[in-house]
Amino acid sequence: MEKNEAPVRPRVLVFDTTLRDGEQAPGCSMNLGEKLVVAAQLERLGVDVIEAGFPVASPDDAAAVREIARKVRRPVIAALSRASQGDILTAWESLKGAERPRIHTFIATSPVHMEYKLKMGPDELVERAVEAVRYARSLCPDVEFSAEDGSRSDPAFLCRIFSAVIAAGATTINLPDTVGYATPGEFADLVRLVRAGVPEIGRAVLSVHCHDDLGLAVANSLAAVEAGAEQVECTINGLGERAGNAALEEVVMALRTRADRFGRDCGVDSSQIYGTSRLVATTTGVRVQPNKAVVGDNAFAHESGIHQHGVLANSSTYEIMTPESVGLPRNKMVLGKHSGRHAFEERLVELGFNPPPEEVAVLFAEFKSLADRKKTVGDRDLEALARGKTMAPPETWKLDRFVINSGIGLTATSAVSLVHCDGTRKEGVAGGDGPIDASFNAIDSILGMDPTLEDFSLSAVTGGKDAQGEARVRIVREGRRFNGLGLSTDVIEASVRAYVAAINALVHETGGTACAG
Ligand code: KIV
Ligand code: ZN
Repeated sequence: MEKNEAPVRPRVLVFDTTLRDGEQAPGCSMNLGEKLVVAAQLERLGVDVIEAGFPVASPDDAAAVREIARKVRRPVIAALSRASQGDILTAWESLKGAERPRIHTFIATSPVHMEYKLKMGPDELVERAVEAVRYARSLCPDVEFSAEDGSRSDPAFLCRIFSAVIAAGATTINLPDTVGYATPGEFADLVRLVRAGVPEIGRAVLSVHCHDDLGLAVANSLAAVEAGAEQVECTINGLGERAGNAALEEVVMALRTRADRFGRDCGVDSSQIYGTSRLVATTTGVRVQPNKAVVGDNAFAHESGIHQHGVLANSSTYEIMTPESVGLPRNKMVLGKHSGRHAFEERLVELGFNPPPEEVAVLFAEFKSLADRKKTVGDRDLEALARGKTMAPPETWKLDRFVINSGIGLTATSAVSLVHCDGTRKEGVAGGDGPIDASFNAIDSILGMDPTLEDFSLSAVTGGKDAQGEARVRIVREGRRFNGLGLSTDVIEASVRAYVAAINALVHETGGTACAG
């Protein structure tokens, strides 16, 4: 141990930022209902901290933090803020209902950020950081301070600012590799240098936060753990700004599989990893690449005869961890129209969904009706079904009927009928550039609104002629975004359903009517 150095805490804390840094990635925005379901699953996964959002960024972010803080009680709930009183107070207003709130405040410490972004010298910067931490501590007993772009900062300056903020009350100090620039050896050296150069280090948890621009986020996080980092910040499936953040599932399984090397464990229940990964993939629509470590479709698949023979003889020949350890059953039961409710419910839980009994009953009925149309119902079908039901906002408007006239050389026309939850039926007719555009225009004419369609995608949930089509729609109104998902073996119906779902999200989140009951 070097001079000044306090002992490293024996347990590695896992700080999940899927709902903040992960959600900042393009196309990953989630609505309130979706964030709540993901947060509940993160709690089941056993993470220590959930960073629920950046409240000053938007009223939606503030509302999500507030609701998660109210409903998710075991983990620490963190909210991000810049190092200013206004931001910190906004973060606190959202957080204060939490059982264990944490204000996470940050300021950049690298020369390039200080000169060009903040236009601040070192003394002024330290003063700002100290003031921010002191103010945050006057509101909340748990305060994290991050030195943004820490890996490109002057190490002596880093030690100076970390000492000052711990003295001002920071309970965690975080060293981010914001632009994914560091290499493992270099990052480990920096962690050791901070441990040795900050006399107050024993009074705060030392955290790291790595981005994946060079594909080194997990390697850098693990090198940091070996060098004495006590908290790792990461996201499910490695979602995050640009190339993403360190993938939680990889960090955790490395700590477990190479316990001989790391000698320090974390509190994550690894059997929840696969379900959480699937839940985040279906919620955000960002698919997991098949060869992704730990959670990719091929992560435990053995194709070649030599490998298959070895695994059958003794699985440790080609498997360093078991599929069961990450929650992936080795023998998946195929579900079809003769499957019972118990097997159906069990599979939903394995996929990260935990619907209450009354929702299971509705889902089971829908599953049976799908199984009548499709020979086998795969995991992707189940996820799509469950996601559509468990995370959808209340149905203010329901799709009743539609008829479309479209072909080549003529403007498409669509007549749509919607039913309001108070029983009122409304019909609209419109033309458009193809059947989907015409249907969306017909819905706009019924509702008298004209949101901007920001994103629309259509994909097959599974292979085969009887595959379900999954449509995703994102609309924007007055700067706010609303997502909708639609599902059907008919792709036009899936698209219209997705648009209606996005409209329902808009109505719900802007405080419009939804009928009680
Ligand atoms: O990457 C980064 O530096 C961050 C901080 C706000 C912690 O996300
Ligand atoms: Zn980040």
